[in-house]
Amino acid sequence: EEEDRKPRIHKPPPRVYREPKSERWGLGLGTYLYSNLLCEGIVYIKFFFSGLHCLSVCPPLGMESHRIENDQLLTSSVYQHRYGSLRARLNIQASGDEDDMNGGAWCANPEEKVHWIELDARTLTEFTGVITQGRDDPLESDYVSSYYVAFSNDSREWTVLDDGYAEWLFFGNADKNTPVLSQFMEPVVARYIRILPQSWNGTMCMRMEVLGCPYQSQNEVTHRDDLDYTHHNYLDMEKLMKSISDKCPNITRFYSLGKSFKGLEIYAMEITDNPGMHETGEPEFRYTAGYHGNEALGREILLMLMQYLCREYKDGNPRVRHLVDETRIHLMPSVNPDGHMKAFEKGSELGSWTLGHWTEDGHDIFQNFPDLNNIFWDAEDKGMVPKLIPNHHVPIPEGILSSNGSVAVETLALISWMKSQPFVLGANLQGGERLVTYPFDMQGYSEGYREGYGEGEPEEEIRVIEDQSLFRWLAISYASTHRTMTQTFQGGCHADDPTGGLGIVNRAKWKPIPGSMNDFSYLHTNCFELSIFLGCDKFPHQSELLREWEHNREALLTFMAQVHRGIKGVVRDKEGNPISNATVSVEGVNHDVRTGESGDYWRLLNPGEYRVTARAEGYSPFTRLCVVGFDPGATLCNFDLNKSNWDRIKQIMALHGNRPIRLLSSGNRGSGQHYTYSTNQIPNSKFSNQIPNGNGGDMNKARLRRLRLIRIRRLRQQRLLANKTTMLPITTTTTTTTVPPTTESTTPWYDSWPLGETFEENTTPPEEIELTDALDYNYNLKIDDY
Ligand SMILES: *[C@@H]1O[C@H](CO)[C@@H](O)[C@H](O)[C@H]1NC(C)=O
Ligand SMILES: *[C@@H]1O[C@H](CO)[C@@H](O)[C@H](O)[C@H]1NC(C)=O
Ligand SMILES: *[C@@H]1O[C@H](CO)[C@@H](O)[C@H](O)[C@H]1NC(C)=O
Ligand SMILES: *[C@@H]1O[C@H](CO)[C@@H](O)[C@H](O)[C@H]1NC(C)=O
Ligand SMILES: *[C@@H]1O[C@H](CO)[C@@H](O)[C@H](O)[C@H]1NC(C)=O
Ligand SMILES: *[C@@H]1O[C@H](CO)[C@@H](O)[C@H](O)[C@H]1NC(C)=O
Ligand SMILES: *[C@@H]1O[C@H](CO)[C@@H](O)[C@H](O)[C@H]1NC(C)=O
Repeated sequence: EEEDRKPRIHKPPPRVYREPKSERWGLGLGTYLYSNLLCEGIVYIKFFFSGLHCLSVCPPLGMESHRIENDQLLTSSVYQHRYGSLRARLNIQASGDEDDMNGGAWCANPEEKVHWIELDARTLTEFTGVITQGRDDPLESDYVSSYYVAFSNDSREWTVLDDGYAEWLFFGNADKNTPVLSQFMEPVVARYIRILPQSWNGTMCMRMEVLGCPYQSQNEVTHRDDLDYTHHNYLDMEKLMKSISDKCPNITRFYSLGKSFKGLEIYAMEITDNPGMHETGEPEFRYTAGYHGNEALGREILLMLMQYLCREYKDGNPRVRHLVDETRIHLMPSVNPDGHMKAFEKGSELGSWTLGHWTEDGHDIFQNFPDLNNIFWDAEDKGMVPKLIPNHHVPIPEGILSSNGSVAVETLALISWMKSQPFVLGANLQGGERLVTYPFDMQGYSEGYREGYGEGEPEEEIRVIEDQSLFRWLAISYASTHRTMTQTFQGGCHADDPTGGLGIVNRAKWKPIPGSMNDFSYLHTNCFELSIFLGCDKFPHQSELLREWEHNREALLTFMAQVHRGIKGVVRDKEGNPISNATVSVEGVNHDVRTGESGDYWRLLNPGEYRVTARAEGYSPFTRLCVVGFDPGATLCNFDLNKSNWDRIKQIMALHGNRPIRLLSSGNRGSGQHYTYSTNQIPNSKFSNQIPNGNGGDMNKARLRRLRLIRIRRLRQQRLLANKTTMLPITTTTTTTTVPPTTESTTPWYDSWPLGETFEENTTPPEEIELTDALDYNYNLKIDDY
């Protein structure tokens, strides 16, 4: 058996190798002049001696994209388990952990004499070349500098490729990262291919890709959607976008956000029924791509999506019509055009892992946003959210955006774009992995307490985003409708599948980064933003684009439709004028949204019943019940606010010294987070205990009850005080004008609650949690307590 596996090579490898020569790319002795001139698009011209051949070039079989599966690879030996055959994929990245399985290449056992790696294409294939790369490692410099290539139809009889005179020794790599392409003079038909390293630097390690076409299979993939499945450089992209805009002038607007560092336009395409303006009640959606210029798939996917939407709209596809008529869609294919230009010049296979990743002046745009997380989390820990610091629209500290060179021009353009349109939902398309991540992207820890709070040891928990269940839903909506994203049995792109088979993961738990677009979007704007990693191959070969489009089309459409989930509406005053910048809060979710200029708002929510409160300065808040069902389409929840007796109330407050009442935050109920507020973090607090905000439990209930009693007592005191010091008849009037009478309204709980001696310890309020909320909100406005 063992004997059988050993290769029987027809011609033994020559003992003396020819020296690696650079002439192969020049006019040296017996060498060929390759020209990069394109011959009918995909074929390189080659001058071979005097002859002129058109050398056919096949696309990658999919070592990098993982279309080649792990069990199609076999190696002569393995240095260590973490350098197994499945680590031989082009551009695979090592994990930093020396103890796991994820090394940065296949490495052979140095004790062995003969080394090879074998790929079983499973069918007869026309091989046209190989691409090799060294090992991904921060320190070592391991790579193969020369090798033979052999072919077989049964994996026993092997034929070493020759150049007409002797075995053809291919010259491999000269460093560990740059991929080097070797093309064969003529396509070789076989099922198996072997690479036999002959010389190397350091340890014998390599990564590779194999180029090949299915043999004699003429069945061209049907171009189902008939889009432009090619890669586009900057000018081609511009041309294509213009032509789409010309084809669908009624529903498109081709615009630019500004210029990149090198002066290229950052283009976007708006697709909606009345382009160029925000329509009241129509949510804004965005897909962005190309933050890292070398992640070219997202760019092409968005260009295809534009073509698709334009054409299907014209053809009357009801789904697309509905989507486009009801949504204002913005598609931005190339956030970092400078980086893409660099990667594009090298081409889809030869750009290495990072060429073009950054902007021209070295920024990673995706994580170049102001870090609001720490500001927000600090405030949260001090018990200031949402009373003193809002739980949304966290302000950007002054000076950050203008500080010299720390924020890229591309980032600045994005920020002003994000602020200028009332986006509701967005996703950024990235590459190099195949999964969807949801925020927070940054790692932060909150102090949590084990059961029996206050008694166990404090333990650290990763910060959970307030809308986590919604974010998970949004992520799942993409991952589960993508054709292959949840097929994780082969593992992830570079390591084990981090998603537990779901195709989604919380970025902070997986690969945390600070200053991300997603976190910024959530904390500073109304928009919920996720990252979609489209696949292992950041810059797939052109021939993959149709397949990738088919994999993503349904997911792209499904995800866009999620912008119509939850509630939406308009906040107006009694005269019907829209109130902009009003706050809309959902009880139990400590993250509000604000109305736009036309008073409209959207709050993405999973199905359920919600008590929703709208409030605006100078108006009495109003709370109503809104039900989100399972049917598509957002529930309409409008608010008509009454003017509050604001000035008079302020007068009253001034009379007793503007002393605000400090109340307790309801924290992050429902998110599973537990915060601890100590006495010194709550100014004016008279409580000596730490107060939990957990999901109930008997201890918490008892505690809440005690707190409630204390609050009632204080309120009564304050009322008495107010009576004593002012004796204004206004007091009662104020109470009635600011408190709407309906049950769905913000009737403060203490008004309907027995305040006098009838109060009994064992009387349970109807909804415990609500009470603390009402208090928070009232405090927030500092009016309705009176
Ligand atoms: C494999 O089989 C095909 C078809 O029979 C033949 O053309 C090719 O030369 C064979 N390849 C090798 C390496 O034997
Ligand atoms: C070859 O490997 C050695 C040690 O592994 C390293 O120091 C050296 O820089 C490498 N040579 C090149 C040209 O990378
Ligand atoms: C554009 O609008 C015009 C006028 O409303 C209409 O006649 C035409 O059919 C529309 N074209 C497309 C492509 O929708
Ligand atoms: C920004 O840099 C310029 C020159 O590089 C300098 O003159 C200017 O003072 C800097 N501004 C700030 C705010 O640091
Ligand atoms: C919006 O309202 C908030 C308070 O809710 C206020 O701080 C902010 O300045 C307002 N913004 C605008 C543009 O009016
Ligand atoms: C405050 O004064 C008003 C009018 O004098 C009185 O009706 C009311 O009962 C007083 N409130 C309290 C809490 O004593
Ligand atoms: C506004 O005030 C009117 C009476 O002036 C009342 O009937 C209505 O319920 C109030 N609406 C809200 C939302 O408070």
